[in-house]
Amino acid sequence: MAQDHDRLDAIFRKFRTQKNTNLSEAEKLFSEFKAGLERHIVWEEEILFPLFESRTGMREVGPTAVMRMEHRQIKEHLEKIRAMIAGKDTATIQENSLIQILTAHNEKEEGVLYPWFDDSLSTREREEAFSKIKASM
Ligand SMILES: [Fe+2]
Ligand SMILES: [Fe+2]
Repeated sequence: MAQDHDRLDAIFRKFRTQKNTNLSEAEKLFSEFKAGLERHIVWEEEILFPLFESRTGMREVGPTAVMRMEHRQIKEHLEKIRAMIAGKDTATIQENSLIQILTAHNEKEEGVLYPWFDDSLSTREREEAFSKIKASM
């Protein structure tokens, strides 16, 4: 999952470089980034977080509740940027705030939640979660 963060970050960086020279190529890269990030969020919210929530009993409060709230903010930014690109608006303010939220978000997941999954789930539980993720690709 951390690798998927890096993979998506790289696509987003490419998008930002292309934006100044080739808007239609940039648009394709952004669609790829947006779809990939939305899929990553579904894996977390539907496969990984429920494991944490059922194991710890922390649902309405706790780290996954915060991550779910940030996912909503991230998706709002994705939608705004998509609309801007569609309108050929190349201002970067939305992108900058998305980067800010996403960087902090990924650091929290990689620092707190992902290590929890590594440490607290059995090998079999991790394999099951991973095959669910693979099956939805
Ligand atoms: Fe996330
Ligand atoms: Fe994530």
